[in-house]
Amino acid sequence: MSTEWWRDAVIYQVYPRSFADSDGDGTGDLPGIRSRLPYLRDLGVDAVWLSPFYASPQADGGYDVSDYRAVDPRYGTLDDARALITSAHELGLKIIADIVPNHSSDQHVWFQQALAEGPDSPMRSRYHFLPGRGENGEEPPNDWDSIFGGPAWTRVPDDPEGRENAQWYLHLFAPEQPDFNWNSPEVHAEFLDILRFWLDLGIDGFRIDVAHGLVKAEGLPSIGHAEQLHLLGNDVMPFFDQDGVHEIYRTWRRVLADYPDRIFVAEAWTPTVARSANYVRPDELHQAFNFEYLDTAWDASALRKVIDSSLDAMRPVGAPATWVLSNHDVTRHATRFANPPGSGTQIRTPGDRELGLRRARAATLLMLALPGSAYVYQGEELGLPDVTDLPDEVRQDPSFHRASGQDGFRDGCRVPLPWTRSGSSYGFGDGGSWLPQPSSWGELSVEAQTGISGSTLELYRSALNIRREVPGLGAGDAVTWHDEAPAGVLWFERDGFACTVNTTKEPVRIAAPGRVLLSSSGTLPVTDGSADLPGDTTVWWEL
Ligand code: NOJ
Repeated sequence: MSTEWWRDAVIYQVYPRSFADSDGDGTGDLPGIRSRLPYLRDLGVDAVWLSPFYASPQADGGYDVSDYRAVDPRYGTLDDARALITSAHELGLKIIADIVPNHSSDQHVWFQQALAEGPDSPMRSRYHFLPGRGENGEEPPNDWDSIFGGPAWTRVPDDPEGRENAQWYLHLFAPEQPDFNWNSPEVHAEFLDILRFWLDLGIDGFRIDVAHGLVKAEGLPSIGHAEQLHLLGNDVMPFFDQDGVHEIYRTWRRVLADYPDRIFVAEAWTPTVARSANYVRPDELHQAFNFEYLDTAWDASALRKVIDSSLDAMRPVGAPATWVLSNHDVTRHATRFANPPGSGTQIRTPGDRELGLRRARAATLLMLALPGSAYVYQGEELGLPDVTDLPDEVRQDPSFHRASGQDGFRDGCRVPLPWTRSGSSYGFGDGGSWLPQPSSWGELSVEAQTGISGSTLELYRSALNIRREVPGLGAGDAVTWHDEAPAGVLWFERDGFACTVNTTKEPVRIAAPGRVLLSSSGTLPVTDGSADLPGDTTVWWEL
């Protein structure tokens, strides 16, 4: 790793509800995560990003925070958080926390006070409260839709001034997630304090939720049409990617002057990777997620294009590119690649599982060979598919239950992890799991794959170990494409290392560039300097 550890770090995302449950209540927790840290160290990752574990009514799986300085009792205590950070550091792992500055929970004390005190409450200026349109204010203040479906405004139910004066409040997500008003100096001050609170506790960085959403266009102008935005969408909207957000991050970055080696990662959906680069200028954040990469089909020319445009966009600002294939909001990539290209990121059909896993493994080796930082979502190292057949009554994704439910299938990638072949919830805990696990989970468990040559878990372990040893992997900001690559094959080289990716279904003969380091599907005999690169396979070579 470079001295700026985050430039080529492999960061493992833990979704706390679904990782490991220490107390048998069916929900994962911080002591559970702590007990599995040695597993993550052995896997070979550098850092762990934890989705929110703050006090929360869990209307959106913890992305609805009611107290930013407290741990939700379902997940443990502040002491558990401290112990987790300490143990991680002893094992050489960094811990990145999620921070949710775009909105709070409707149970947050500020919002509750704002409701209780009525329209004249100064607390209302910390959120977006406005009178409605129409004769009796019966229409929302503008036409914005919530990303989870339905209008982005809810009328206050119990305004003391009487129903006809009742205001509306803005929530880009669920009604239980009111948006903060970042024109309010109190909101600014509060978040600077929250950052310091967790930095003092030893956290190594923050993943900023909806980093592009904090500032809304002046006057909150209507958009004028329906079908506005889907989760991870990247259209230009008056509530996203406004230039004013950058001043906030410049201020945040100055806080880190007192905390060396800590980082910020932006979750920012922007129209182009070039716009994403604005978030990682030298005086702003360190990394921004690359959702365009996540959304790219298994196709050599599409992949080459997005790799080039990502590296080209980041180079001028000196930030590392990032690569991600799965997270807690999208269909796992083993299932995405099992379905036809263009199926989106909320897929409801299992598709061709064998093909999906084969491509997922190849895609992972490609991702881990690229310069920059890579994100691994819990369970992808087991080759887990999305659980596409969850019964409606167990689903908890708020967007499933709202209006059109356009993006409501996120529970499928949040099913608790299998650690053992059998037992209550396959080793997740002693008391079942908050979402039902499929019977295939046992054979996909950590126990079932450990030490089994060719298993997906051992492939990840080998890849991450090699990535640490071979300097050509992860480092730098460019790749050299081999222009004689056959059609459908990606081939690039850097620093004594080559990566070849056959995105077609058929084997392709290539001149072996060196010694095979690792293949995503079986061994690869090299005869007379040539090798048949199997279909849907990535091979790493030492030159
Ligand atoms: C993005 C998070 O990743 C997602 O899970 C959440 O629902 C929204 N932001 C709202 O916080």
